[in-house]
Amino acid sequence: MEHDGILIDGSKGFLMECLPCIQCRDKLGSPFEVGECNLDDLSRLMDMYRVFSPKPASQGLPPPEPGTCRQWAKSLIEIAINFLAWRENRVIGHAALIKDLKRDSGEFVIFVHQDFRNSGIGTELTRLSIQKAKELGLKSIWLTVSMNNFIAVKLYRKQGFEYSDIDECERTMILKL
Ligand SMILES: CC(C)(COP(=O)(O)OP(=O)(O)OC[C@H]1O[C@@H](n2cnc3c(N)ncnc32)[C@H](O)[C@@H]1OP(=O)(O)O)[C@@H](O)C(=O)NCCC(=O)NCCS
Repeated sequence: MEHDGILIDGSKGFLMECLPCIQCRDKLGSPFEVGECNLDDLSRLMDMYRVFSPKPASQGLPPPEPGTCRQWAKSLIEIAINFLAWRENRVIGHAALIKDLKRDSGEFVIFVHQDFRNSGIGTELTRLSIQKAKELGLKSIWLTVSMNNFIAVKLYRKQGFEYSDIDECERTMILKL
C-alpha cells in the first residue's frame, strides 16, 4: 500500500475544495483515496449507506431505517472526526473517531462497503484515524466489536488494539497511543 501523501486536485473538486486526501492502493493495486470529511460530503456518504449490506452490520449500525441512518451519519460528522475512502468519486468506506476529551480518549467506528471489503480499505482508514488521534494528543482509542466479527478483530489486532473487556457476545478493544 502506498502512502505518498499526494494532494489530489481537479478530478474531485467537491472533496478537494479544502480537505486534503491521501492516495492509496488496495491489495489488488487499484487506487483509492482517503481523507477527512465534513457535512458537504453527507450526501455522498449516504449513497454508500443506502446500499450498505448487511444493515445493521454491527451492534445495530448502520441503522436500517433510512431516516435514522441519515441522522446517525449526520450526527457523527457533527460530533466526531470522520474519514472517508473514495474511489472514482464514490464513497466506499467510512471511519469515525468520537473524541472523549475528559478521558483523552476516542471511540472508533468503521464501515466499508460490502463490495470493497478485504482489500485493505479498512486498514487504511484505521491507520489514518490512529495517526489523527496521535496528532490530537489522545492517549487511547477504544471500540466494541462482536465476538464473531472475525474480519474486524483481525483488522484491529493488526493495528495494535488489545482486548480490555470481554462479555458473552462483545469485546472492548483498546489501543494505547
Ligand atoms: C470490519 C471492516 C470495516 C473491515 O474492513 P476491510 O476493508 O474489509 O478490512 P481490511 O481489508 O483492511 O482488513 C481485513 C483483514 O481481515 C482478514 N480477514 C478476512 N476474512 C477473515 C476471516 N474470516 N477471519 C479472519 N480474518 C479475516 C483479511 O485477510 C484482512 O487481513 P490482512 O490485511 O492481514 O489480509 C469491514 O469488513 C466492514 O465494514 N464490516 C461490516 C461493518 C463492521 O463490522 N464494522 C466494524 C464494527 S466493530
